[in-house]
Formats: sequence, structure tokens, C-alpha cells
Amino acid sequence: MGYPLNQKFDYSVLTPFLNLHLNNVGDPYTARSMLLHTHDLEQEVLGYFARLWHARPRTSLTPDSFWGYVLGMGATEGNMYALWSAREYFRTGPGKSVEQPVLYFSQEAHYSIEKCAKITGLATFQEMGNEYYPGQCPITSDGHWPQGVPVDKHGAVNPEMLSALVGFFTAKGHPSVIVLNLGSTFQGAFDDPQAVWQSLSRVPRGDNCCQQANELSRQDCWIHIDGALGAAYLPYLEMACEKGLTREKGPCFDFRLPWVNSVVMSTHKWFGAPFASGIYMSKEKYRMKPATLPEYIDSPDTTLGGSRNGISALLLWYAITAITPAKQAQTAAECMKLAVYACEQLATVRAIHPEFHIAKGPQSLMVLFSRPNNRIFNRFQLSGRGELAHIVVMPHVTRSAIDHLVHSLHELDAFDITKSKGDVQADRISHSDE
Ligand SMILES: Cc1ncc(COP(=O)(O)O)c(C=O)c1O
Repeated sequence: MGYPLNQKFDYSVLTPFLNLHLNNVGDPYTARSMLLHTHDLEQEVLGYFARLWHARPRTSLTPDSFWGYVLGMGATEGNMYALWSAREYFRTGPGKSVEQPVLYFSQEAHYSIEKCAKITGLATFQEMGNEYYPGQCPITSDGHWPQGVPVDKHGAVNPEMLSALVGFFTAKGHPSVIVLNLGSTFQGAFDDPQAVWQSLSRVPRGDNCCQQANELSRQDCWIHIDGALGAAYLPYLEMACEKGLTREKGPCFDFRLPWVNSVVMSTHKWFGAPFASGIYMSKEKYRMKPATLPEYIDSPDTTLGGSRNGISALLLWYAITAITPAKQAQTAAECMKLAVYACEQLATVRAIHPEFHIAKGPQSLMVLFSRPNNRIFNRFQLSGRGELAHIVVMPHVTRSAIDHLVHSLHELDAFDITKSKGDVQADRISHSDE
């Protein structure tokens, strides 16, 4: 219950395909040589997500038409690809700048962002601040540079603080690469891209900027949406809201917003693919200009990896074919309802343990509560951070599973943490035998 994985999906009908070598090497739209592939299905899958995320179609190809690919890894690969694309955009592309770009992300961003920054050589605002402007951070009282942009109590980025940081470096001529969370890893928080842009658009441009406009423009920023979980279910939740199945509706995050440059999603999360994969989507005009056109694959080498498994596109094609958007909308609304049910039931634990803490942010499927002892933690496969644990109310999580968890939390020793966290692994191994 503690991880954003959907275990309700049954992909077993595709088992025979495990006997085929399916390799989607090369660009999904131009690869020609290797014939054992699922590029056609990959294109259908990308078309589906383009519609879901309101991107401009490729039927009459324009620079603003969508472009993307099915990832060989999960959202981490997509995040890396986004940062790489952003770096190239400011190095040689339309956002060409003499000053190096600065990367911004919130305190709640996934750990992959900093790793990807290291790999792509992008400097974070903290690194730039510490190196060139120590003690001058505009948002802290003592001028120290925090590691991430502060967030509100639910974990959503504070747009004003983000803008103050962007303003500081923009004044010195640095363009911005901004990663926004669409469902943060622990709290499931949604940054609000519209509120962020509203605030950013008031940031004055620096003297070093060669263009005429006085305020920050789209060209000065690359905005990436890390929607590992959220980019998959928020569109369905919006449909559910339109049908009156729920009143919950998250922020608009997709290509309806012209300043969004890229979106990533992990398909093993909401879509329950049995192994890691994902979708990266951006626009044709940002498609990577590969250094080479390898004769061997007869395709521009536009993806991060070389060989990409063709099964991931097949799985996702099956998922979107087998489950209609209407059914997905219903599932999203049910999960949201069940997350509220979980909060209500967890509240009963306070009758026995008055210090018991519960929290859930808007549209989040993650319910946070006081971390119980390791036996309960392991039995329900919770995940934790400090004094807190969480469950993620994914489609396979049932009312009865929630009731069992709540029942366990009622036990008198439920919060008797006599063992250190280091024992969790050992406990996990012994519980897996049960
Ligand atoms: C917000 C967010 N971004 C990125 C990732 C990384 O995804 P993956 O493990 O699919 O690479 C996760 C994983 O939990 C996540 O929650």
C-alpha cells in the first residue's frame, strides 16, 4: 500500500510476446531498418497521450506539434532527457544564452532531479548561489541558499519564492530551467503551473538579456512537468469532475499551457506496467538534434538510450485499448473517494493514540500518518520519511485493506518503535516468508 504502483492490471494476455525480440531502437517516427519493433503501437500510444495532455497533433506537422517517445526506464529517464533538452535549448537552440541556465525545483522534488542535474551538468540555484553569491539568497533571512524551493503545508511549491529566486538570477542574465511536481513522491503534492507562471511573468528581465521585453518571456524558461504519477491520473480526474463523479480537480499542467515545454510520466505507476517504463513528451521544435544519423539503425538517434524494449509500448497500447477513458475516470474518482475514506477511518486511531497524526493534500492519493512499528510497517508495505509513513490509494487498494491497516493501528503497541529503522529490511525478509 505504500508505493504508487497499480497491481490491479492484468497484462498476462501479452505473455506470448515475451518470446519475441521487440526493439524500438531509434526515433519512434523515423526509424526504418530494424523490423522487429512496435513503433506503430508506440505512435498510437503517443497520440493517445498527446490528446490526453492537449498537445498539438502531428497529423499536419508544425513546430508546435508534439514529439515524444516511450521511455526505456521510468520517469528518471524522462527527467534526464528534459534537462538535457533544456540545456541544449539554451546552448544552441531558440533560447541561446551566453550565461549558463540555472535549475530550480522544490524541496519535495524527486531525488532523480539532482542526479540528472549532475549528469547533464546543469547548476542548481543552490550551487550557483553558494559559488558566486554566498549569503545573498533573497528568500531566507540569513541569506543561505536552500537546497530546494520552499513548499506549502501540502508540499506544493511556493510560486512567489520561486519567482524571487528566478528574479535574482534572471537579473544576472541566467535563463531558467524549472521542474514542477505533478504529484510529489511522498505527499503527492501538485505544484500549480498557472500560478507559477503568473508569478514568473512579473519577473523583470536582466540587463544582459538581448531582447526588448521587460518581463520574463517563455523563451527565457524551460518548464518541465515531473508527472511520474500525477500526469497519468489527473486528466482522468478532470474527466470525472466534468461528469460529476467527483468535485476534485487538479491544476492544469499540460500543453494547454503554452509555456510548458515537457511532460514526463511513469507507466508502471498508474498504468501498472509490470516493469519500469514511461512517456516523455515535448514538441517537434524541441526534438533533439542528434550528433549523428547512425547508418546501422537508419534513424536519427533522438532518444536517450539506443535499444528500447518494444514491450513497454505494447503494454501501454494494450492498457489504453482495454480500458476506456470513461472507465479510467471512474477509477480515478473511486481512488480519490477511497483516499478520503482512509483519512476518515485513520482518524479513529486518535481515540486510542491521541498523538496520531494524519495528513492528505488536495487531489492527492497519498495519505500520511504517524509511522507505526516495523511489524505493521512491513505487513502493509508502507513507505516512510522520518516520523511519517504513507499509503498510496492506487486502484488495487481496497476498503478492506484500509480497514485492516486501521485495525492494526488500533493495537496498543502500534507505535512502540523499539527497533531501529535499520531493522526494517530484516523484518521485510522474515515477513515475506509468512
Ligand atoms: C515525482 C517523481 N518523479 C520521478 C520519479 C522517478 O520515477 P521512476 O522510478 O519511474 O524513474 C518518481 C518515482 O517515484 C516520482 O515520484
